Amino acid sequence: MDIIRTVREMQQRALAEKRKGRRIGFVPTMGCLHAGHLSLTKLARDHSDLVVLSIFVNPIQFLAGEDFTRYPRPVERDEALCLQSGVDVLFYPDGAQMYAPDHSVFVEETLLSGGLCGASRPGHFKGVTTVVAKLFNIVLPDVAVFGQKDAQQLRVIQRMVRDLNIPVEILPGPIVREPDGLAMSSRNQYLTPQGRQDALCLRRALEHVEKRVREGECRVETLRHEIAVILAGVPSACVDYIEFVDNETMMPVSRMERAVLVALAVKIGSTRLIDNIVLPVP
Ligand code: PAJ
Repeated sequence: MDIIRTVREMQQRALAEKRKGRRIGFVPTMGCLHAGHLSLTKLARDHSDLVVLSIFVNPIQFLAGEDFTRYPRPVERDEALCLQSGVDVLFYPDGAQMYAPDHSVFVEETLLSGGLCGASRPGHFKGVTTVVAKLFNIVLPDVAVFGQKDAQQLRVIQRMVRDLNIPVEILPGPIVREPDGLAMSSRNQYLTPQGRQDALCLRRALEHVEKRVREGECRVETLRHEIAVILAGVPSACVDYIEFVDNETMMPVSRMERAVLVALAVKIGSTRLIDNIVLPVP
């Protein structure tokens, strides 16, 4: 596995691979890798000849007061995991490589990023689309893999690629969970042992909705209330949002009449967790 730390070297390597006719599969991450990230590298591998994984904790997608400085950066462990999971190139730039002190160009999606996490983290998706567009220009991937765990991010990136005619295919990867159902996340390690138990309420609430919709409940307000009751039963849980949106447009729905994304953001103590489920038309 090669570790590349400069933009110039990464771009030259990508161009050289393309000249050899090799397809580049790309998995952008912020590191602190877990089985969720590694499942994406497997998908990338299945669709390409060379797998590039990037680790970059992107400062411009964190809001003031969020966890940018304390975001976990277990460098050696991440390198070992990349090696084990067959990553060919680890792209590991530092902040100075990615942003000039006077950088002044951003990429912004203006429709799908307004609600859900975009509403509670204003500016977050502008930071995400900007860094992902930059990474695409540096890594030159044929395919890039994004997790369904961050469902809104996936949709926003698909829209960016469509609207800016970026020649990359976006592949979604399913949510990978701990054995007890908690969606894997680099932020899970902020949880206390009690918080770790409490965090299961997100999955419990989503499973409840899935069951209720299967039984025929179509009214979103009823389902939202039932989720709120489940979450209210956990004292450390503070709801950021409980949203039911059209899985394509990310617009709120009032009835379960087409594919609906049920998305939750809940703070357990000071740790903000997200989870979701896509429910098919009943
Ligand atoms: P990060 O949170 O490190 O996630 C990197 C990729 O892993 C994303 O596509 C995310 O959806 C996926 N992922 C995270 N947890 C997952 C899980 N449990 N199952 C499946 N996939 C999972 O998302 C980001 O970084 C950043 O916003 C980034 C796109 C790298 C831009 O900075």
